Amino acid sequence: MKSPAGHASSTAEIPPHGDVPRHVAIIMDGNGRWAKRRHLPRFAGHRRGVEAVRATVKACAEHGVGFLTLFAFSSENWRRPPDEVALLMQLFIGALENEVQKLHRNGIRLKVIGDQTRFDRKIQALIADGERTTASNTGLTLTIAANYGGRWDILQAFNRFLKENPSKAEGAIRESDLTPFLSMSYAPEPDLFIRTGGEQRVSNFLLWQLAYTELHFTDALWPDFNAAALEAAFASYRERERRFGRTSEQLDDATLPVATGA
Ligand code: IPE
Ligand code: IPE
Ligand code: MG
Repeated sequence: MKSPAGHASSTAEIPPHGDVPRHVAIIMDGNGRWAKRRHLPRFAGHRRGVEAVRATVKACAEHGVGFLTLFAFSSENWRRPPDEVALLMQLFIGALENEVQKLHRNGIRLKVIGDQTRFDRKIQALIADGERTTASNTGLTLTIAANYGGRWDILQAFNRFLKENPSKAEGAIRESDLTPFLSMSYAPEPDLFIRTGGEQRVSNFLLWQLAYTELHFTDALWPDFNAAALEAAFASYRERERRFGRTSEQLDDATLPVATGA
């Protein structure tokens, strides 16, 4: 079973997977603690976090990663103090204004996922411009998850599917009906998930898409994340045995038949 972009669903078939993850998804956590340790305001950590984003995008492009997805602002981050939210929005605007041309020059395609209706018009326009400018680039696809929540994503997919298929019978909805409506239908499911900052939780990130993703947690705070930390995550990934429900013996003997689900 393939998505509209031709990517395999991990629960319907065994997706292709090699030594370099095709899709890396990162929860960039720990900016506030990075700043606190230096007796700086939290905002200083967020600003340094943008530099870590630049370094990570560059390193992923150099490794030949196809898709990099960064969690920048969750649907629950509105609960933060209003001045911190406002500063994060300013940083987002600044990054969109300053980085899009650089991404474009480097052949990177920009995508933004999440509920954009809660952003002001200026941000919405910058996102649309950035996506339009870089739409035909064929290098790394950089996705920024902003006002994103995994539950929101599944619900918006369901609602859009039902709107287009109002007569669909109860009980007849299949995985492949829903996946074209998920906000990352253009990408394969993540091979590698990284969370910096020491917490071992998913915090409502890509709930559907992480079904068979390898998880890597590091204590490094996001502003300290760099090419070496990415290499360490890739090294850990290379050691994993991705079974997708099968046994080790089946992996050793490629001649054994594999039944696929769904
Ligand atoms: C991640 O860093 C950035 C966002 C959630 C926007 P945090 O701001 O969560 O940093 P900590 O977890 O408080 O250290
Ligand atoms: C997750 O980090 C969201 C982003 C990195 C954008 P949080 O710092 O918001 O997560 P929790 O609250 O510790 O789970
Ligand atoms: Mg945090």
